Amino acid sequence: MSKALDGVRILDFTHVQSGPTCTQLLAWFGADVIKVERAGEGDATRTQLRDIPGVDSLYFTMLNHNKRSITLDMKKPKGKEVLDALIRTCDVMVENFAPGALDRMGMSWEHIHAVNPRMIVASVKGFGPGPYENLKVYENVAQCAGGSASTTGFDDGPPLVTGAQIGDSGTGLHLALGIVAALYQRNTTGRGQKVLAPMQDAVLNLCRVKLRDQQRLERTHTMHEYPQYPDGKFGDAVPRAGNASGGGQPGSVLKCKGWETDPNAYIYFITQEAVWPSVCKVIGEEEWIEDEAYKTASARLLHLKPIFARIEQWTMTKTKFEAMEILNKYDIPCGPILSMKEIAREPALRETGTIVEVDHPTRGKYLSVGNPIKMSDSPTEVTRSPLLGEHTDEVLAQLGYSAADIEQLRAERVI
Ligand code: COA
Repeated sequence: MSKALDGVRILDFTHVQSGPTCTQLLAWFGADVIKVERAGEGDATRTQLRDIPGVDSLYFTMLNHNKRSITLDMKKPKGKEVLDALIRTCDVMVENFAPGALDRMGMSWEHIHAVNPRMIVASVKGFGPGPYENLKVYENVAQCAGGSASTTGFDDGPPLVTGAQIGDSGTGLHLALGIVAALYQRNTTGRGQKVLAPMQDAVLNLCRVKLRDQQRLERTHTMHEYPQYPDGKFGDAVPRAGNASGGGQPGSVLKCKGWETDPNAYIYFITQEAVWPSVCKVIGEEEWIEDEAYKTASARLLHLKPIFARIEQWTMTKTKFEAMEILNKYDIPCGPILSMKEIAREPALRETGTIVEVDHPTRGKYLSVGNPIKMSDSPTEVTRSPLLGEHTDEVLAQLGYSAADIEQLRAERVI
């Protein structure tokens, strides 16, 4: 079966997490991704957080499926010649070097565009143009600078970073969309273009509702769905909202049976407006249905703490899965707090290919997250990450280099 990006060739200069997640997605959609790495060491994540000595780490293998790897010293003149040959034959260059690194290598946009005017050059940087544009940036810096950390956590605690890698993988997703749009536009213009996804901007895009709340706060000095209402005080910036629901339907994380020993025996419970009478019936507080203090959503906002405390008395008598089963019968929106252990064993996620088992020549079998985007006419088959330089000879031969040329480049340590 064909794939959505069949025929698209990606020159992949990405490393660590943000860039590799982007090119991995493009590979899953069918693009031929050629990852260029430094000889001898390669992407730093190959050796980071290693669990098996001498073997590519899970960090690397889980971010670089379905790619080919070549090693190339891009700073040597002959390396630049190989690079120009690659630029001539590829559609997209993706990079997440530190600011200015590409220019220092002599690979400016002007140079790339002169060699191949159809080339799309896509970059992840920590910041866009401005006071911080020259900074090197990692995940948590982006979470802090993009508004996530100041709005995550509890009111009486410090800012918190989240486990979801919104700075790295979140930016990679943004970049992938920009690349696909640029490929589409190239169909009519015939020209490549620059695509930039700064990590601060991507995080802010994911924190859009918090900028909404900043403006609400400035206008009304309060926000009824936040836990600070009605007893606490609001300052002049969006506060941390704990586990309160971000939308207009109040929600909370509640303890379930076994919480004393199981750190994940919790459920997320949403008191959706439409099912309030059912919530009252389930927890045995049917008189709340007509009680003036609880009857309307706006009245309930004054009593969220006692309401959730009472619901929690009920959830604590059930396991999170028992509670889910009962609540689902009443269409009450809720979700179990699933541990990574539970997710890894979830049969439905295996069935859909979102959790996949992959075999690797030096690592053996390991679990990975497959393509979360499902397409009916472009199925994803997850294949293992490449060993360092595994495809150097193959790719150079495709570029027209003879076996003798390749040997010479190897002898000169260009590859
Ligand atoms: N051949 C020759 N040189 C190579 C090379 C190759 N194949 N691959 C990399 N290099 C060189 C680069 O040119 C650079 O040299 P320079 O310092 O002389 O310009 C050097 O290796 C290091 O690259 P750099 O990107 O600066 O890596 P770093 O490890 O110092 O920094 C980051 C890592 C992630 C902080 C940085 O790349 C960055 O800020 N990237 C943008 C934001 C980003 O994506 N962050 C998320 C990370 S998950």
